[in-house]
Amino acid sequence: MCGIVGYFGKRPARDFLLEGLKRLEYRGYDSAGMAVLQNHKSKLAVTKSVGKVVNLENKLKQNFNGFLGIAHTRWATHGKPSEKNAHPHTDCGGNVAVVHNGIIENYRELKEMLKKRGHKFRSETDTEVIAHLLEEEMSVSGGKNISFEEAFVKTLKQLNGTYGVVAISSKNPDMMLAARLSSPLVLGIGLGEIFVASDVSAMVGDVKRVVYLDDKEIAIIKKDGYVVKTLSNRKQEKEEHTLEWDKAAAERGGYPHFMLKEIFEQPKSFADALRGRLLIKEGRARLGGLQAVEKRLRNINRIIIVSCGTSYHSGLVGEYMLEEYAGIPTEVEMASEFRYRKPLLDKKTAVLAISQSGETADTLAAIREAKEKGALTLGIVNVVGSTIARETDAGVYCHAGPEIAVASTKAFTSQLAILALLALYLGRQRELSFVMGERIARELNRIPEYMEKILARAKDIKKLAKKYAKQKHYMYLGRKYNFPNALEGALKIKEIAYVPAQGYPTGEMKHGPIALIDQSVMSVIIALKDSVYEKNLSGIEEILARGGKVLAVATEGDSVIAKKATDIIFIPKTLEMLSSLLAIIPLQLFAYFVAVERGCDIDKPKNLAKSVTVE
Ligand code: M6R
Repeated sequence: MCGIVGYFGKRPARDFLLEGLKRLEYRGYDSAGMAVLQNHKSKLAVTKSVGKVVNLENKLKQNFNGFLGIAHTRWATHGKPSEKNAHPHTDCGGNVAVVHNGIIENYRELKEMLKKRGHKFRSETDTEVIAHLLEEEMSVSGGKNISFEEAFVKTLKQLNGTYGVVAISSKNPDMMLAARLSSPLVLGIGLGEIFVASDVSAMVGDVKRVVYLDDKEIAIIKKDGYVVKTLSNRKQEKEEHTLEWDKAAAERGGYPHFMLKEIFEQPKSFADALRGRLLIKEGRARLGGLQAVEKRLRNINRIIIVSCGTSYHSGLVGEYMLEEYAGIPTEVEMASEFRYRKPLLDKKTAVLAISQSGETADTLAAIREAKEKGALTLGIVNVVGSTIARETDAGVYCHAGPEIAVASTKAFTSQLAILALLALYLGRQRELSFVMGERIARELNRIPEYMEKILARAKDIKKLAKKYAKQKHYMYLGRKYNFPNALEGALKIKEIAYVPAQGYPTGEMKHGPIALIDQSVMSVIIALKDSVYEKNLSGIEEILARGGKVLAVATEGDSVIAKKATDIIFIPKTLEMLSSLLAIIPLQLFAYFVAVERGCDIDKPKNLAKSVTVE
């Protein structure tokens, strides 16, 4: 969604702001803007443009030469994409500029009140009220002069809704102010320079130390330091986290798209997820992030996984793993639904949030609800220090590195790695035998090698994608561990190639969806040599009997399916519980190459945002 960057330091702000905006482009946006406090003039220069950041870059004039500035990529909510609606927004006098993520719910009332007091509005946005409120507070406030910081706090206290907001003022050239309520903001601490952004990816390579703001905190940022306070003026001691990601991880590195790079990174990201956690000879897993709650975990008798999108699909695989190997009843719920049910939770329930970004509003709300009800909350999160990582009682990081493409790929397989480790960890705390534990551990260790084998066949998958590029409708099918992959394969082709696709458990076909099957529908079926092989085979027969086409993902050496399917992609044999880790890769590649054939903007698909921080 929208992206915020801010800079105060010794370098020209414009350079970092542009670079930061470009790094946030992957989040999806429709317009961009920048405000910089000009050197020696104490005036704000503001420029905005519709469309890509490069349009803004081309418009920026020489007067953008200060050391303090803010910038934004906007995703339209209130008012259409246009220059006047793009951020930063300024007050009547042009002395204050603000960028904002989130939604100000009471903006209409505030706008009316401000208009009555003579303020002139230029945009249709909710954000603009923040700039005018700041102006109002600084100039009016009972006739006394109050500081920028005080005015900022007074302004924030009048807002209902959510915000990640950063403000600068030409009358206060020595500071930048930032605050958060349910919309992430992170400070990057450099030497003699401070960065602020809504997403750490904006500052990868520029800083090594970062500080995550919590809700209802404000940061008073000076060139060479910062102070964090609560809205009630209590100074906060903030932990500084080390940012492990390097610049190369956030660049395309020769690949045409981030998505392809991230698909090919999977053998490495998977190995990174296992690193130091797999004790093969002991047939168990060591998960440092769960140490603090180890005893409580021994007593849990139920797990509820809450997540969205791709992370929901990994949760569904996790459900099979946790029930089969840890013996713990597990349910998976879309986080957006969880909070509107009346979840029955107790102290023996663990609610596990899975999230790549760690900032998904629905997942965060579900975790807060679970905490409120006394459940143990756990996280499987990729972004270190993100809100979900901080708000859960304990958790395990994926260590997949930055995932830039909107379509999630390597985060999915890293989440599966952690779920397999979790099943091993909890299973060995319970009844899982050493022999089975060791088998799982050994096979987990071989997964990167199998992944490499599949990736080496990318050219064959590309040929298939060319053949089916014009296909108008897909049905993705699978059973048991590969039913979630059917959902995930369908999601991938929908989100990046814009082809209607449905994911179903193969067994559900006969209860309705089979009515759709004819020559125009392509069924992609994951039919591996596993416990549901025969069932999937019957599914293939049913489709073929109705004139449908079948692209099968099958186990190497399966000559039976090879004779039946219209086309086939082979993957190496592994344990059934780990097969989703391999079967998903051809589906990711297929969706990617179909999208290339169809000329789609793969890393920035239309209407989508990388991290969904609003409900
Ligand atoms: O950051 P999260 O894992 O919480 O994000 C959840 C979904 O928004 C995300 O997986 C989304 O479905 C992706 N576009 C899938 O490719």
